[in-house]
Amino acid sequence: MDRSFEFTRRAQSRVVVGAGVESRLPELLRELGAGPGAVVVVHDRTMATLADRVAERLGGAHCLAIPTGEAAKDLDQVEAATRALRQLGADRSSTLLALGGGSVTDFTGFLASIWLRGVRFVACPTTTLALCDASLGGKNGIDVEGRKNELGTVRQPDLVVGDTDWLATLPDALWCEGFVEVVKMAAVLDAAHFAVLERLALALRARDAGAAAKAIEMAIAMKMAVVLADETERDRRRWLNFGHTIGHALETHARGALRHGECVALGMLAECRAAAATVPNAVLERLTRLLQDLGAPTAWPRAFADVEALWSLARQDKKARADVVPMIVPAVVGNGVVVELTKERLAASL
Ligand SMILES: NC(=O)c1ccc[n+]([C@@H]2O[C@H](COP(=O)([O-])OP(=O)(O)OC[C@H]3O[C@@H](n4cnc5c(N)ncnc54)[C@H](O)[C@@H]3O)[C@@H](O)[C@H]2O)c1
Ligand SMILES: [Zn+2]
Repeated sequence: MDRSFEFTRRAQSRVVVGAGVESRLPELLRELGAGPGAVVVVHDRTMATLADRVAERLGGAHCLAIPTGEAAKDLDQVEAATRALRQLGADRSSTLLALGGGSVTDFTGFLASIWLRGVRFVACPTTTLALCDASLGGKNGIDVEGRKNELGTVRQPDLVVGDTDWLATLPDALWCEGFVEVVKMAAVLDAAHFAVLERLALALRARDAGAAAKAIEMAIAMKMAVVLADETERDRRRWLNFGHTIGHALETHARGALRHGECVALGMLAECRAAAATVPNAVLERLTRLLQDLGAPTAWPRAFADVEALWSLARQDKKARADVVPMIVPAVVGNGVVVELTKERLAASL
């Protein structure tokens, strides 16, 4: 016998964002069909008060603390959480709710997609990066021996709830991270949104709530449009990698000395310079000014300018071929095209 069976999977993801939406969590979970028995997965230490309050709103949900930051995205943590869920009496009807930054949403999304072959997953992002990017689109994962997201699945969250009031406690250094990703999306996808960001940049930097709400709304619209068109990164989703081809290489090369958002800002500018034949100088200038207004770095750090190291890291990109790495750059503001990064162009870009 030789027959093929075609499955269609219609996943639905609801996104509710705004000031004060935390109070709507019980109602939103009910509308999702979630029964009692949510488990709130949260950063260790930093978010205890918020976690306790959310757990109480959900009728005394259990909290499961995982290590803060990238250390959470580890196989040992998956095993530990599995044991904890069993001890808490969670079962297939339980909901896993991630409350924290992208490390918590990435970890919890992964756990929810494999634990008991999949349970309900709610993402509650508390950083601008998680709200504008990581909690949207269903990519999740954990790291293996320092290789980022080596194990992961694509599994849309059933619900994303982002209370913008949660962002108030974010340190300034983390505040602009998410907005750098919004700049990235607008630069290759949407000229009108890019122009709005140019108008809002200084207000964003000053942590103006209205400007942040507008930028977050644009991020959700742009990211979800791309993800709906291409969930598993066969084509259009690659556009979201602008700034990440060189940016990721820099992030690994810098071994924790630079934050992701800083590397993406520097990565975008380096990629534009590396593709100088495609990216007009006027585009590079607008991008540079916008990132400066946001407070992101724009000068390549001398300490991390080792071309050999950066090139060998850039070539680890999944789409790399022997001596070229495809990357996306804006040919005009709002319109990204695929170009090829070579070692020579990388060297010239630094
Ligand atoms: N899945 C995706 O599509 C995607 C996209 C982008 C990034 N990511 C992942 O996201 C992760 C980074 O996420 P991140 O930048 O949010 O960092 P993070 O999750 O590591 O959190 C950074 C720090 O912020 C603290 N924090 C979180 N919320 C806070 C708040 N409201 N107030 C004060 N402190 C708070 C945390 O305790 C932590 O110390 C990376 O692992 C990255 O791979 C995933
Ligand atoms: Zn990023």
